[in-house]
Amino acid sequence: MEVLVSSTPEQTAARAAGAVLAALRRVAGRDPVLGLATGSSPLGLYRELGRAVERGDVDFSATYGVALDEYVGLPPGHPEGYRQVLLREVCEVVGLSPDRLAVPDGSSTDEASLEDSAAAYEARIADLGGVDVQVLGIGANGHLGFNEPGSALTSRTRIKRLSDRTRRDNARFFSGLDDVPTHCLTQGLGTILDARRLVLVATGDTKADAVAAALEGPLTASVPASVLQWHPDTVVCLDEAAAAGLRNRQYYDDSAAGLPER
Ligand code: F6R
Repeated sequence: MEVLVSSTPEQTAARAAGAVLAALRRVAGRDPVLGLATGSSPLGLYRELGRAVERGDVDFSATYGVALDEYVGLPPGHPEGYRQVLLREVCEVVGLSPDRLAVPDGSSTDEASLEDSAAAYEARIADLGGVDVQVLGIGANGHLGFNEPGSALTSRTRIKRLSDRTRRDNARFFSGLDDVPTHCLTQGLGTILDARRLVLVATGDTKADAVAAALEGPLTASVPASVLQWHPDTVVCLDEAAAAGLRNRQYYDDSAAGLPER
């Protein structure tokens, strides 16, 4: 696990973009697959990718985008549905084709249809050859995707109940708490762990406890983001505020500095 701590959210976004682009450059012989989180944390990273496109450093026209999760029960086209959010925040910003964006279909409220959507989503990811690099945020309660505390460490895409904490945190995107859906379809922790690289972005002091528990606490379903410790290629990009609870900070900084020059 690589832990990169930067002084500002902007530098954090730039380093996260670097980690994403490096993973995409490794893909050869097929179209790359980029896993996409929603929420506030990755917005700076997506804007950095947009700047890389403008500079001519990268082209996303042949890249597939795969969402982490989607709310259940929002009508198609709802502005806070994650398909619409990703169209605005990623497709328009980096030039990824909307036809190449896969999002779980959470528009039904019928359990059997939602289970079918979840299975179809797993099959879609497999058809694409798996996710090359998955962008992640972390919930203040330690959730990863919408895998809330208590989620099975090997879980696959499925229906999950959102915790009260998550619904309160996400109420800022809706007219009020009552409008926040109660359920979602989310990639499972096992699905996320199948991605070839994980890039987590966290900024701000509200994430400090969750980050410390995820990176330095035990691997446990009580802190779903602790599965990051299980993955062989995780890059964690933090600002100072989000890194404030880390005990091994000096070691992370020393490691990030690389080998001494001779
Ligand atoms: C988003 C997602 C969530 C968020 C997390 C942090 O697709 O699955 O895990 O990454 O809730 O949200 P922000 O970044 O808004 O603090």
